[in-house]
Amino acid sequence: MNDFTFYSPTRIVFGRDAIDRTGQELAAAGFGRALIVYGGGSVVRTGTLDRVKASLDAAGVAHVELGGVRPNPEVSSVRAGIEIARAEAVDVLLPVGGGSTMDAAKAIALGAVYEGDVWDLFSKRAAPKGRIPVVAVPTIPASGSEASDSAVISNDAEHLKCGLNTNLNRPVLAIMDPALTFTLPPYQTAAGVTDMIAHIMERFFSGEPGAPVTDNIACGIIRAVMDEAPRVFEDPCNYDARANIMWAGTLAHNGLAGCGVNIPGGRDGDWTCHGLEHELSALDTAITHGAGLAVIFPAWMRYVWQEHPERFLTFAQGVFDIEPIDDSEEAVRDAVTATIDELQDFFVSLGMPRTLGEFGVKEDDIDQMLAGLKINRGEVFGSFKRLTLEDARAIYRSAL
Ligand code: NZQ
Ligand code: ZN
Repeated sequence: MNDFTFYSPTRIVFGRDAIDRTGQELAAAGFGRALIVYGGGSVVRTGTLDRVKASLDAAGVAHVELGGVRPNPEVSSVRAGIEIARAEAVDVLLPVGGGSTMDAAKAIALGAVYEGDVWDLFSKRAAPKGRIPVVAVPTIPASGSEASDSAVISNDAEHLKCGLNTNLNRPVLAIMDPALTFTLPPYQTAAGVTDMIAHIMERFFSGEPGAPVTDNIACGIIRAVMDEAPRVFEDPCNYDARANIMWAGTLAHNGLAGCGVNIPGGRDGDWTCHGLEHELSALDTAITHGAGLAVIFPAWMRYVWQEHPERFLTFAQGVFDIEPIDDSEEAVRDAVTATIDELQDFFVSLGMPRTLGEFGVKEDDIDQMLAGLKINRGEVFGSFKRLTLEDARAIYRSAL
């Protein structure tokens, strides 16, 4: 087992009607003036925003707001939020929404105390100087942003989508109310499930040897999510199924699933598939992150598995109970292929695409994605297997 540091400081308040405790939790934590951030309006339509405001009012927490954060959040919303945060001297950011809203709030929190342009933190890797604390109220289990160290922001003018990982990004508190996710459309539910499975797999396939405790946590969470997902498709208001998926999304990305299989002194995972996907969402901001991963991850797996077949066999056994019939090369190949096929079929069964063509992506688009990838990842990247931009081209091509 590799040495690791596990840091997950986010206090989690989880359960029925948790959202109505937002105000009292903020007040108890000493916050008095919140900037509520939300997306394109789902929280207005569902009444969630009103409940949050009522609870802040009841607890005497003042609030201002910024709505309209879009999926794959654009830096312009972040800049607008920074102005509000400074002008109103807020002491806490309160995103109510999905990963896009939470990430925008995280970027506002960093940018409000940074003297330069916030985009420099993302594109130029300028060092953040501090942050305003963030309290997250997730409404979709997917990104795991409610307890992660990441924020991912797009810049349309530069055709870039860049992530920033820092412990400053970890929310101090997450208020998680599974019933808020009853209203999720099937496509977003499916993309969220895919994203959380991808967060575990990025860590599982780090290229490092397995660690049984972490491997069992990883495979166990994936199995549970695969069991629960069909239940929410049958009954979108199934509280237990929604709650289990929501908790899985947090555990998938708070670092737990990477302990001991992390790269020594480096990241807790490979993260190539996320890199490849972010270029897709940068190419076309209408592409949902999880849907992109549903296509990219199996394509990457088929391209790299021979580097560490034993890792794929652990995954095959742990998630799908698939074992090779003997030790021969052919039997191993069959078992790995069956595993990747099962995984991809599961994503497709949820309504996720199988090919990039389904997004309208064409061979001609690959050069633009590679240009972004070069800026974000350099010319050589990946830890499970070191890959070049030409390898990335081959993976995109194989997924067309
Ligand atoms: O914008 P609104 O109107 O709120 O609608 C959203 C949006 O259209 C809707 N939605 C959310 N909760 C809902 C709901 N609709 C009905 N009922 C609800 N309860 O869902 C749509 C998608 O929202 P979004 O926030 O974009 O989804 P998600 O949580 O999947 O976040 C995706 C973003 O997170 C980034 C992705 O790159 C992408 O930009 N990621 C962030 C990570 C992190 N910070 O740790 C890690 C991830 O790997 C990921 O990269
Ligand atoms: Zn993700």
